[in-house]
Amino acid sequence: MAPKLNTFEVLKRSALGRIGRFRTAHGNIETPTILPVINPNLIGEPGNLSPQEIKKEFRADAVITNSYIIWQSDELKEKALSDGVQKLIGFDGAVMTDSGTFQMYMYGDVQVEPLEIVKFQRDIGSDIGTILDLFTKPDEDREKAESDIEGTFERGQGSVGVKGDMALAGTIQGGVYPDLRSLAAKRMSSLDFDVHPIGGVVPIMESYRYKKLTEVILAAKRELNPARPVHLFGAGHPMVIPLAVALGCDLFDSASYAKFAAQGRMMFADSTRFLKDLDDLPCSCPVCSGHTIQELKSLDKATQTKMLARHNLHVTFKALRQARQAIYEGTIWELAERSLHDHPRLNRALESIYTEPELQERREPTAGRRFFYTCPTSMQRPLVRRFKQRFIERYRPRTKYLLIGFMGNLEARKPYGTAFADDIRKLRAVSDADIMFMSYYGPVPLELDEVYPIAQSLVPDVHQLPKDVQEKLKDEFEKFSHDNEYQMAVMYDGDTTILDVENWYDDVPMRTHVFDRVLAVSDFQFGNAATDAMFPKKDDMNWVTNEVKIKTSRKTGKIRNVIVEGEHILSMRAHDGLFTLKQDGAKRILAGTKAPTNRLVVNDDSVPFNKEGKSVFAPFVISADPDLRPMDECIIVDGNDEFVAVGRMRLAPDEIEFFKTGIAAEVRSGSDDED
Ligand code: GUN
Ligand code: ZN
Repeated sequence: MAPKLNTFEVLKRSALGRIGRFRTAHGNIETPTILPVINPNLIGEPGNLSPQEIKKEFRADAVITNSYIIWQSDELKEKALSDGVQKLIGFDGAVMTDSGTFQMYMYGDVQVEPLEIVKFQRDIGSDIGTILDLFTKPDEDREKAESDIEGTFERGQGSVGVKGDMALAGTIQGGVYPDLRSLAAKRMSSLDFDVHPIGGVVPIMESYRYKKLTEVILAAKRELNPARPVHLFGAGHPMVIPLAVALGCDLFDSASYAKFAAQGRMMFADSTRFLKDLDDLPCSCPVCSGHTIQELKSLDKATQTKMLARHNLHVTFKALRQARQAIYEGTIWELAERSLHDHPRLNRALESIYTEPELQERREPTAGRRFFYTCPTSMQRPLVRRFKQRFIERYRPRTKYLLIGFMGNLEARKPYGTAFADDIRKLRAVSDADIMFMSYYGPVPLELDEVYPIAQSLVPDVHQLPKDVQEKLKDEFEKFSHDNEYQMAVMYDGDTTILDVENWYDDVPMRTHVFDRVLAVSDFQFGNAATDAMFPKKDDMNWVTNEVKIKTSRKTGKIRNVIVEGEHILSMRAHDGLFTLKQDGAKRILAGTKAPTNRLVVNDDSVPFNKEGKSVFAPFVISADPDLRPMDECIIVDGNDEFVAVGRMRLAPDEIEFFKTGIAAEVRSGSDDED
């Protein structure tokens, strides 16, 4: 079955950012990417980069051009209608067209009817056409913004009816009002669009109002159909790309590379500068490494403009490639935060980048390789919130007596437990205390110190932070101890603590520390009910330990495999300290918990394929446990809750129903496979 055109598939994700693929008749567009703007009037003019040159030098999948400019010229119009827009501009790839809205914004008026320009885009074979939306300027009041949304929606209703085979972009307006952006996104999502641009943002970006930009993007994202790529209209400066990608923008376009070049200006990741003001070339793109600054300055105007345009596109594509790599690595929040530190006027966006916590947590993958702190705002990242939340909701104390907190030089050696191995050994000889580390994440129990993101992170040591941060942490510790009814909670203070503890205990109850770790990670990852389903219990706080065999690495001592009653149920991954669920573990969870716990329900057409180990495609999913997150282990079942396969989520549960193509979960092993 060939995938349908005009559909979008998500391949990889980090933050709200995604590596995706949009299918067009002129090839796939791999996102996030930028569509360089082609001005049809300037093709072949000296100083201008041709579409073929752009294709060759930057491997651009797609460009964008303006259908209104073509429509206005009899000559261009005729050629576009007879040969198609791709031929007209000479681009061998996908071509998106804009509608004339921006001309309306710049010059106050356009002479074309909303439906006529959509039909025209369709008739010239545009791969992605755009409605003639109503551009709301940032200084407009609410009433105007509301009426523009209404007008844009009405135009959208008519436009989707005439789009034909063309993908159609339905722009989200709403001015500077986040609630109106959400409303617009909700209404436009209800129509049969294929792409959603966020519009009206050029003047917001030009005045460096990145905090506002962040707010309007997030407000739109909250209500947008997640299966449609989001285009940030008029954005293409490398300065904005890391932020916008992290916030979930998939497509960009910009005429800036050419406009700035024509003014003798060069774009950089942190600024735009006149060539004439530069003393050296702080860049290593082919243009800057192929010329000295003197050579560049002394070029004739047309050649120089073209060179600057090439440089500008190189730095833009570089920013995109860095953002893509960061998505693969799971570090796009870090990249976005760092980019905001690059310019004092961008800094304020830090105040709003984590202001959709629920949405952001639902979309954030649970597994990753690293967590680097860049500033105090980093601790608002969805991963941190999730860790705290799961710790509070899912961690179960292993003793009723004593809780010991460690505060100190935690971050130098990971995991935390190894840094305090000697003290822990002494404590264990005289008590069954639960042990917590007072980290910047809040209290982290010893059993979770290898779990992502704790062990994979570089964050400041709490004892180096201001006193009020430390006090807050101690309060959290107190509260945890109180809520869990420990008889005693103390901060570890070397041998005096050991002596005290020794005096408090008459005899020391047995603990099985490796098993405690297995249970705590399982609780954290799968929830308490799933853990209880996998491991036979004696009573409320005690498990049957003699039926559990835990294989550890001889070299590192780390947990490898967990075997219960002869069944291999879990394997631990060394890189993120989380479990891979085996078939026998999954079957235990199914037998011992009620739906929807950890389940992904597929329809009967899908079952035989998944049993053979093939991935679950989104259109075949009936429902999913709302607590699952991208990269979580999941149990694939049929409509009767019968076991089909174990796998790993790729989409978030609430997104799946929107996707017409693409993988919802990867299957690791199906019931027909050896596990
Ligand atoms: N180009 C830059 N901003 C906009 C916008 O808001 N709408 C459209 N259609 N094109 C744009
Ligand atoms: Zn350069």
